[in-house]
Parts: sequence; structure tokens; C-alpha cells
Amino acid sequence: MGFSTECIHAGNEPDPATGAVAVPIYQTSTYVQEGLGKHKGYEYARTQNPTRRALEVNVAALEGGVGARAFASGMAAATAVSTFVKAGEHVVCSNMTYGGTYRYYTQIQARYGVEFSFVDTSEPEEGRAAFRPNTRLLLLETPTNPTMVLCDISLLSDIAHAGGALVVVDNTFASPYLQRPLALGADLVYHSTTKFLNGHSDSVGGIVVAKKPEHEEWLAFVQNSSGAILSPFDSWLVLRGIKTLVVRMERHETNGREIARYLASHPKVLRTNYPGLPDHPQHELAKRQMRGFGAMISFDLGSLDAATRFLARVRLCSLGESLGGVETLISHPATMTHASIPEAERNRLGVTPGLVRISVGIEDVEDLVADLDTAFELI
Ligand SMILES: Cc1ncc(COP(=O)(O)O)c(C=O)c1O
Repeated sequence: MGFSTECIHAGNEPDPATGAVAVPIYQTSTYVQEGLGKHKGYEYARTQNPTRRALEVNVAALEGGVGARAFASGMAAATAVSTFVKAGEHVVCSNMTYGGTYRYYTQIQARYGVEFSFVDTSEPEEGRAAFRPNTRLLLLETPTNPTMVLCDISLLSDIAHAGGALVVVDNTFASPYLQRPLALGADLVYHSTTKFLNGHSDSVGGIVVAKKPEHEEWLAFVQNSSGAILSPFDSWLVLRGIKTLVVRMERHETNGREIARYLASHPKVLRTNYPGLPDHPQHELAKRQMRGFGAMISFDLGSLDAATRFLARVRLCSLGESLGGVETLISHPATMTHASIPEAERNRLGVTPGLVRISVGIEDVEDLVADLDTAFELI
């Protein structure tokens, strides 16, 4: 089946009890059993839930994996992935991940004897050099948040596999519509479903997709044992959101390209980071690895003062954390999403005080340009 068809139909079987076309919200904590050891495959809702199952089947199909497991947030999904590593082992990680991912690894997982190297994975040789005999995981985020740097999933997967490490990609920014890391060589993909997959800024969730059955089995064990499951209602919301993923992404993409062109030619913008711009350092890689360039853009206004005044003036673009919703969201990474990264490190990575990130929504692009125009006039 084609991708759009999978979005709508994978996992969305008519309800066996009633024929309901939309998968029902199975709001139950437990299931009646016919007798000891005799049940319909569902015993207790932390372990199995039909609404969550439908979502897991759906996203596994979209990412081309054997199975998926849904969690209570993107960070819970990241935490589940981190259980593939034990004390004494080592992780190589993109140095420009979501700030919360960096915080989790450096302030929580590092306490349990796991070692980390944060490297610029846009430079494959830097990635290669970071591998050690005990490296078990390579964690990539591409495009990275918020500087929109890409890394070559296929090349880095070869490097990691040669050293016996698993490759994990946080595919939140791209969504499976734009990028399918498992087909490029990764072993696991995860998402904050809070973003493009759900797409309506009304649910927090996460999901991990595995390429190999033994990895899915481990994730199922972790999901049940640690218990950070996605609720039936959130599973239903994400399943519903995904039905329109393709049409939303097409519009995000058109608007994203338009806004990136607008920002790149604006005299008050020092630098625009968007993989669709011909001067982006990995523009060719983006064309090869992704189906489009998406709707995430960051741009530098030169100072915290300029960024503060600009963000105080936008009206249609909503100032807020998060991304990937139908409405345009705008944020200031240095004080919001990436505040947990030390200042010197932030500056070194390009998360400068003047950097603004925009998640372009699916509104009429003329209205978005008019809103940005007004804000620019006032700074
Ligand atoms: C790229 C990326 N990964 C993971 C997360 C964490 O997801 P959640 O907020 O759903 O826990 C975020 C959140 O912004 C993100 O942007």
C-alpha cells in the first residue's frame, strides 16, 4: 500500500465487536477472562490496550518496522531506548539533540554508569572517531533541533554496525512522511508523537519502532515493566492525527519553503537554517535522504534583545514550546527548549541568544508573512 493509504488504514481495522470504522477508545483498566489462562489476548491495560495497539501497528507500518511500542511522552520513548545500554557501555550521540534528551543522558543515565560522547554527527569522521570498543548505541537526531543540521543516516549506520552498535534515530522533526530511517540502515526510530504525528497540539506522547523482532520484544517488556504507557485517549488522538499526516505535511512543506525564502532574504536576519535552502551545508544530503525539507526553520536576529522584541510582537505565530502542530509556533531555544544546555556549549553549537525557531503551520502563508513583517518592522 502507498504511504497515504497506510496512514489511514494500517492498524485501523473496523472494530471486531461493533464494526465501528474509527478504532474505539478502550477506556478500561482490565478485561474479563473466560477462565484461568483463557482470554482474548488482553489481560491488563498496562500490558495491552486495543487502541494503543492500533496506533503501534499504524506507526510501525509508516516507519517500515516490525513493531512499535507507544509511551507516555517522547522522553519516555527515549528512556525506553536507553535501556538497550547497560553500565560500563558507551553511547555516541549527536551533539545537537533536543535539550531534554541531553538532560536525560547527562543528568540521569550517566548516574548509572553509562558513558557518553556528544559529537558533531554531521561530520561522519568525527562520529567514527568517537566509537570505542564498548560503544553500544549511536543516537542521531536529523535534522537537529534547533539548528537544522543533518547527518548521513546510511553512512553513520555502516560505521556503527561495523563497531557492533545499534543505531537509533529521533525522527520527530521529519516524521516518516519526510524520512524513513529504518530503510536507511537504522535499527530503531522514535518520535515525540506530541509533534507532527499527532499534529494538533493536543496530546503528549512517544513511540519507538523496531526493525528486528527481538528489539520489539524487549521494548514490549520495558513498556510493561516500567509502565510509562500512552493512554487510550492519547493513542486515539494520535491515530486520528496520523490520518491527515500526508495532507498536513504537504502544506507544512509548501509554507515552510515560502517562509524560509522570506527569512533568508530579510535584511534583519543574520542567518537562516533550513535544509531546503541551496546554501544549507547539507542541502544535497537533504535531497537524497529526505522526501522534502519540512517546516522547521531557525533564524538569527543577532541578539537576545532583538529576539525578545521580535517575539513580543508576533501575534498569529504563537510563542510557545513544541512544534509540528497545525498552528505556527515560534520559540526561543536558548531560554526555552535548550535552556538545560550550558551557555558556552549552546553558543558553540549555534544556539545563540538571537536564535529564533519557527514551526511553520498550515495557515495561509500570506497571513504568516504579514505577521512576521509587522514584528520585523518593530525591532
Ligand atoms: C526532537 C524531539 N525529541 C524528543 C522530544 C521530547 O518529546 P516529549 O516532549 O513528547 O516528551 C522533543 C520535544 O520537544 C523533541 O523536539
